[in-house]
Amino acid sequence: MDIWTGGNAAKLYCLDRIAQLITQRGGRLSIADLGCGDGLHFALLLRAFPQVRYVGLDPDAAACARAKTALRGCNADIRTTPVYDVAPTANERFDVVVSFSVLEHVYQRPRYLRTCARWLQPGTVMYLNYDAGHFLARLQGNYPWRERFRDWRRRWRAMRGNEADYQAFVRENDFRTWLNDAGLAIQEEKFFNLYALKELSKAVPKERQDEYLRQWVAYELSLNSAGVTYTDRMAQWFGTRNFVLTRRD
Ligand SMILES: C[S@@+](CC[C@H](N)C(=O)[O-])C[C@H]1O[C@@H](n2cnc3c(N)ncnc32)[C@H](O)[C@@H]1O
Repeated sequence: MDIWTGGNAAKLYCLDRIAQLITQRGGRLSIADLGCGDGLHFALLLRAFPQVRYVGLDPDAAACARAKTALRGCNADIRTTPVYDVAPTANERFDVVVSFSVLEHVYQRPRYLRTCARWLQPGTVMYLNYDAGHFLARLQGNYPWRERFRDWRRRWRAMRGNEADYQAFVRENDFRTWLNDAGLAIQEEKFFNLYALKELSKAVPKERQDEYLRQWVAYELSLNSAGVTYTDRMAQWFGTRNFVLTRRD
């Protein structure tokens, strides 16, 4: 099995699932990436499956420019826009919608999720994850004044329309409420990126990385089947919450 991306068990898990789907559909699939950043996680996948169509949206013009460079030669279309109230064009249909590590940076979260729902048709599957790594110290009870001030400044700027550096922890109950209001249903939920395993991955020699990544994902999947119910408290151990979503209708 190919290693599509390094350093993140949740993204590798999602990309594996998408690659399986591409193979089942004879190499053809259309993917919308809502908050694509520099698009790098898709570079290997799109080169391996040249018939896959990829549309990436992000408000950050510099990140979009990097995505265009990273995905040059692929069947990719990068659009510079926030994912607020934008819809696919009339003749576009997506089999897969992804949102990787975006929600914790989005200021208007219900609006973002309502917009995501517009990109899903019946049969479309969405892979959405978000991270708690930026908030780890705080989750562990250490929230110095400098950090509080930075967070307050981020919120203040976002309230005045500059959302570029916004970030805030995503609470489990809030997320479920927004999903429900957006008409999205949870097909599968997991937690990934046990901090110690993620840190250790950086110390593994290059030639052992692939093997390590496979074992890392397998171990995290086994933890997910241990019968644990996720709560916000677990974000101090696991960096990423990962969902497979569909439209409720
Ligand atoms: C940590 S990056 C993740 C990028 C990419 N998905 C990845 O996994 O590498 C977060 C991204 O969310 C984007 N973002 C923030 N607010 C957004 C919004 N309202 N709509 C779409 N993207 C947004 C940022 O511009 C940034 O590129």
